[in-house]
Amino acid sequence: MEKMIIHGGAPLRGTVTLSGSKNAALPIMMASLLTSEPLVLSNVPRLRDVKTAMDLLTQLGVAARWIDDHRVELHAAKVTSHEASYELVKTMRASFVVLGPLLARTGRARVSTPGGCAIGARPVNLHIAGIRALGSKIQFRHGYVEAHAEKLTGGRIWLDSPSVGATENILMAAVTARGRTVIENAAREPEVQDLARVLVKMGAKISGAGTHVIEIEGVERLHGAEHEVIPDRIEAGSMMAAAAITGGDVTITNAPIEHLEAVATKLREAGVTVEANGKGVRIARNNGLKPVELRTLPYPGFPTDLQAQMMAMLTQADGSSVITETIFENRFMHAQELARMGADILMKGPTAVVRGPSKLSGAPVMATDLRASMGLIIAGLAAEHTTELSRIYHLDRGYEALDAKLSSLGARIERAQEQ
Ligand code: EPZ
Repeated sequence: MEKMIIHGGAPLRGTVTLSGSKNAALPIMMASLLTSEPLVLSNVPRLRDVKTAMDLLTQLGVAARWIDDHRVELHAAKVTSHEASYELVKTMRASFVVLGPLLARTGRARVSTPGGCAIGARPVNLHIAGIRALGSKIQFRHGYVEAHAEKLTGGRIWLDSPSVGATENILMAAVTARGRTVIENAAREPEVQDLARVLVKMGAKISGAGTHVIEIEGVERLHGAEHEVIPDRIEAGSMMAAAAITGGDVTITNAPIEHLEAVATKLREAGVTVEANGKGVRIARNNGLKPVELRTLPYPGFPTDLQAQMMAMLTQADGSSVITETIFENRFMHAQELARMGADILMKGPTAVVRGPSKLSGAPVMATDLRASMGLIIAGLAAEHTTELSRIYHLDRGYEALDAKLSSLGARIERAQEQ
């Protein structure tokens, strides 16, 4: 196993380009099941989760191959299996969104339920209720969801909460259903919008993606398409927090600033310069950081996937910041590790009070999930001496070439084998 070694203290300076969005790419890859023609995707990040998605699709009979560095061709001429195994779904929960497209294409799907997760319970009840509303029979057996429908039919679905995965699953099930489907209280995330864009290119009739009500008029069949995945807004926010904590000056050439309103607002409140110029989005900090209050919310609110990174940054703010996590009930595992590095964080239920500025000192730390890992790296960039982050397979699930990108900005960071 590998670990990341970070020697703190170097301000990040220079220019960096984001990879394609993991959370857009994964469901879009599953959409390849909806057609017998090839789906060609560019700007696909080279990540462990993308590899897991390729493995899953391959097991289902899809010819999945890299055409070049960031281009993938997925060709589901025939679908030869109906099953997404426990092995794959437990490795990557996003595999569960295979349910909708697999069922739509073949009339049958057997998909393992995901089980527990480090950041919260994360049930799939909304996915199931939505698929059921489209006329599928559903049974739970031996840890699997078994869905069966000769032909799905459109329906009206009101989501209890705007779940990203449930919206994507239902959307993909509905595009070839008979008649009209309406998803109310749908997720509005840019990744959902990108999926809808691909589906429309494939011949689907969808309106309202990006709003709370998505309407789908079922079509007989979908065809192949080409699509470029959107840049990763969470990688962007992570780089922004990294630049800010080090008092750096970084330009992100392809930052999707329109997807980062909430993040830019909070960074500005904290005293960070965030400005779009001809070259991209520039993040710079000359003065001290100010404390902020923030609450994670569904898009366009502040993303839960950037909460750990902001918490790390706010350890250096002059005063008390208040962070409330409203999406996942257990997404504060990084707080204890940050405390080991010298952060002063008071936890009260879903709220963390971060009292700064604290002098951070490098320590051996361990993360429980992807974004927590990034939070610890950000803290390490501002800490005295050396931080050693173990279990970086979490990081490799969602950040492409992170050490290379940070090094190119002047960070002193390297991988090493764990003893
Ligand atoms: C997506 O997960 C992302 N993953 C997550 O990114 C992200 O944190 C999350 O959306 C929220 O933005 C992918 O896109 C692959 P949800 P998802 O369904 O779809 C509850 C990362 O680090 N809920 O919107 O699983 C659920 O428990 C990751 O890249 C139900 O109660 O998130 C949670 O509290 C981690 N029942 C809330 O809704 C359901 O059936 C939001 O979950 C579904 C969800």
